[in-house]
Amino acid sequence: EVCRDAELSALNTLAVPVRATRLLRVSDPRLFEAQPPRDGDLVLGGGSNVLFRADFPGSIWLMVNRGIEGVSREENGDLIRVAAGENWDAFVRWSLEQGYHGLENLILIPGSVGAAPIQNIGAYGVEVERFIRSVTVWDRRARQFREFSHPECAFDYRDSRFKRERDAFVVTHVNFHLPCSGEPALEYAGVREELAAMGIDRPEPRAVARAVEAIRRRKLPDPARLSNAGSFFKNPVVSAARAAALQADHAALPVFPLPDGGCKLSAAWLLEQCGLKGWRRGAAGFAEQHALVLVNHGGATGAELWAAAQEAMARVEAEFGLRLEPEPRIV
Ligand code: EPU
Repeated sequence: EVCRDAELSALNTLAVPVRATRLLRVSDPRLFEAQPPRDGDLVLGGGSNVLFRADFPGSIWLMVNRGIEGVSREENGDLIRVAAGENWDAFVRWSLEQGYHGLENLILIPGSVGAAPIQNIGAYGVEVERFIRSVTVWDRRARQFREFSHPECAFDYRDSRFKRERDAFVVTHVNFHLPCSGEPALEYAGVREELAAMGIDRPEPRAVARAVEAIRRRKLPDPARLSNAGSFFKNPVVSAARAAALQADHAALPVFPLPDGGCKLSAAWLLEQCGLKGWRRGAAGFAEQHALVLVNHGGATGAELWAAAQEAMARVEAEFGLRLEPEPRIV
């Protein structure tokens, strides 16, 4: 299905009013064999992790293929194959209704299933890679379908080979291993407290999901009401020595030690110190509730949003000597 001179504000959660020369909706990826995406074409899922700085002079392929399919039973879990065009949150809710464990901390994340492995979505102490067995892609150079095993996906914090080898692959399906039992992940600050406040002492997955949902609704603006793309910057990872040096100057700096010896800093905290929480210039700015969320108050252009992001990066660099890295794709 092809649309010419397509307007994209409904297809990106920052609601940037840009146009693309052509928009193609992919309801069956086998279409690629006859009509493959060309170099320079852009593939889009839920549009929740992209900032368009300007009109896109080319073709955009929107993944809208559907289907959740049980493949096989395994010890303590099932293999489930999910089409890239399925909505992530709807899939999480489906998995909870079926009685599966694991995805409860990842409820309410905007976007599509196909986008989930690309930036290895994560929240409240869980990353999606833990439940991914393999990812099926269309290889744009070789012009054929391929399946990457978990190690071949090279997952990292908000990163994967699909993000690093930009535009080399189109994710068409994600193959999940969903456990039938398991221990809930409650270590992330706030989850246990939320469960206690809800009066829940036996945290089964659906209860954990309700707690995470409550925290997210409080902390993060709903993209349906205030256009945003979630966290706009990654949390910087620095050496322990660098973290200690920064802490010497800024005693309150939150530091999260990582297993590999590095330290993760809070981008939101750094931004807040620079006066960016709730800051705005025109219709572009950062959320009142959470400094890490770039928001479009209505009518901001991509250029204005990008200017706000750059202003934030410049302030953090001037104050802390750290260069924040945007998390969404800048187009
Ligand atoms: N903080 C501030 N000011 C704020 C918000 C937070 O100083 O305005 C500080 C606080 O010290 C707080 C700490 O930052 O304890 C961490 O905040 P939060 O729990 O909200 O987590 P985050 O590091 O800001 C990350 C993910 C989110 C995910 C949450 C919860 C990244 C880039 N972001 O945010 O993911 O929902 O943890 O797990 O890793 C996303 O990637 O789009 C996203 C929303």
